[in-house]
Amino acid sequence: MKINDWVYTFDAEIEMFKNFYLPVRSTVLRLNNGDSIMVSPIDFTEADWAQIKSNLQVKHIVAPCDLHHLFVKSAKKHLKDAKLWATKELAHKRSDLTWDFELLPKNWTMSDEIELIPILGGSTHEMMFYHKQAKTLVVTDLIFNLHNRKGFLTWVIQQAFGTWNKPAISRWFKSTLKNKKEFKITEEKVLSLDIETIVMAHGDVISENAKGVLTNALRERNLI
Ligand SMILES: [Fe+2]
Repeated sequence: MKINDWVYTFDAEIEMFKNFYLPVRSTVLRLNNGDSIMVSPIDFTEADWAQIKSNLQVKHIVAPCDLHHLFVKSAKKHLKDAKLWATKELAHKRSDLTWDFELLPKNWTMSDEIELIPILGGSTHEMMFYHKQAKTLVVTDLIFNLHNRKGFLTWVIQQAFGTWNKPAISRWFKSTLKNKKEFKITEEKVLSLDIETIVMAHGDVISENAKGVLTNALRERNLI
């Protein structure tokens, strides 16, 4: 789906185990020169690949945290010239892949258009992406926005996570924040941005009062 001139999303749903379903999303961010960056590849359909290959010149494939990496290998098979990015920790864990760059702001050469923002203090080493012209923040697990999802265990687990039928930061994600002081630095940085849209890996895109929604979600988990 085209979110705006620079942001494209591709959605799927995975059955994590019986009766527990989780929507997953890959986001492709375009630069003004036409090149694109694929964040968090999913198990794309043939139709997705046709669209990606005909409309989006993907030059970079990014695993945005230590957990979202399962489909990097297949994305690279489809996009042989794309460069692979991973955190140091993930590159170690997935040493079967040849990573081109460590996912760090100092290595990120596209900051003029897309800022790379680390979630400091977190054990999953998530990186966020802020597309300046699009005023769009792309996150992975920072915030979920799940509504009316199927599956009894989906309900049970999302209730436990505190993410059922609302935009929310999961209790699980909060538990991955090992250094709250460092996380505060990230929080202040993010809340200083002009954000119109938030695209996350799990849930509906937030395009109304996006910064207010994120602020409320942080407040609900006592992170502000
Ligand atoms: Fe995730």
